[in-house]
Amino acid sequence: MNKEFWSEKITIGNLVIPRFMAAPLDGVTDSPLRQLIRDFCKEELLMTEMRHVSHVANDKLKRTLKYKEVEQPLAFQFSANRLEWIEQSVEKVIENGFKLINLNSGCPSRTVTGSGSGSALMANIPLLEKLLKEFNRIIGDRVPMTIKIRAGYKERNAVDVAKAAEAAGVSCIMIHPRTQPEGFVSRLDFELTKQVKEAVKVPVIFSGNVNNFSRAEKTYELTGVDGFMIGRALWGAPWKMREIVENSQGKEFSVDTTTALDYARRHFYLNKDFYGNSGFSIFKKQLPQYIRSVENAAMWRKTLLTTQTEEEMRLKLDQLCHEYKVDSNAL
Ligand SMILES: Cc1cc2nc3c(=O)[nH]c(=O)nc-3n(C[C@H](O)[C@H](O)[C@H](O)COP(=O)(O)O)c2cc1C
Repeated sequence: MNKEFWSEKITIGNLVIPRFMAAPLDGVTDSPLRQLIRDFCKEELLMTEMRHVSHVANDKLKRTLKYKEVEQPLAFQFSANRLEWIEQSVEKVIENGFKLINLNSGCPSRTVTGSGSGSALMANIPLLEKLLKEFNRIIGDRVPMTIKIRAGYKERNAVDVAKAAEAAGVSCIMIHPRTQPEGFVSRLDFELTKQVKEAVKVPVIFSGNVNNFSRAEKTYELTGVDGFMIGRALWGAPWKMREIVENSQGKEFSVDTTTALDYARRHFYLNKDFYGNSGFSIFKKQLPQYIRSVENAAMWRKTLLTTQTEEEMRLKLDQLCHEYKVDSNAL
């Protein structure tokens, strides 16, 4: 595959974006991580975590719609299980400047599927069609409406769902080709993805284990998809998508331990700004990945993860950064 293919842009409705983009990961791809990803990738689409339409319409949490301009182009992902609240939530999302809207029809979590949202929508195509038409009616041509699906809920019906979604007006289909019971670990269904790609005209984006460039290449060979989402690989590694993009152009890109620690500390401070007091404990989720290449990583992991206060975490992080001569002025 030539380098040009990988640097070509794809068109989703009125958006023209690179083939690589960040996947939405609830509790992970929040505003602080997205801001850090932007240090490495300027144009790639980023996505919010999934939020239910009623949560957005009723302003359940002010920070749901908060982001920094640098995160653009930024997509908003909804979950929904009924028509109520769609109008109010869509207006808020568009008013707040999000550049694309996505309906989550892939979440496997029972707390989500239990109410008929997430991947359960794939088992209820009539409802899914109604929801998509309602989203489209309200959105019009202001931003692209898209959907993220799985291989299916219990049954592998992604082709039928993709066709129905396209007919209901979506501009792009993102697929994580595993069924709901398969969660996030079993074999990826490349054959089904290929069938989805062949069944629709809109761009199809693949999500699943794209954690290095050769996986993207292999995925393309097996499926012919138009784009690739980077998911868990970004967890505590905001430079990962850049590495894949550079490798796609035949260039090397890696981040040394000093830079990784610099970014760990930046992340800690961004979490403090974004989440307030709970920021440091939320940061703990991303920390092990940031420090995996330090000497005595297991010891440091334990030291940092058992900190009880933000101040304690800051002191320990500074100590680790000092050992690796991280430039404190960089902050
Ligand atoms: C912790 C976690 C949270 C996730 N949250 C979301 C979400 O909010 N919306 C969504 O569409 N997918 C979500 N996903 C699925 C990812 O977007 C992605 O499809 C999946 O992780 C496979 O890609 P990967 O192997 O590159 O991580 C989540 C996955 C994980 C592991």
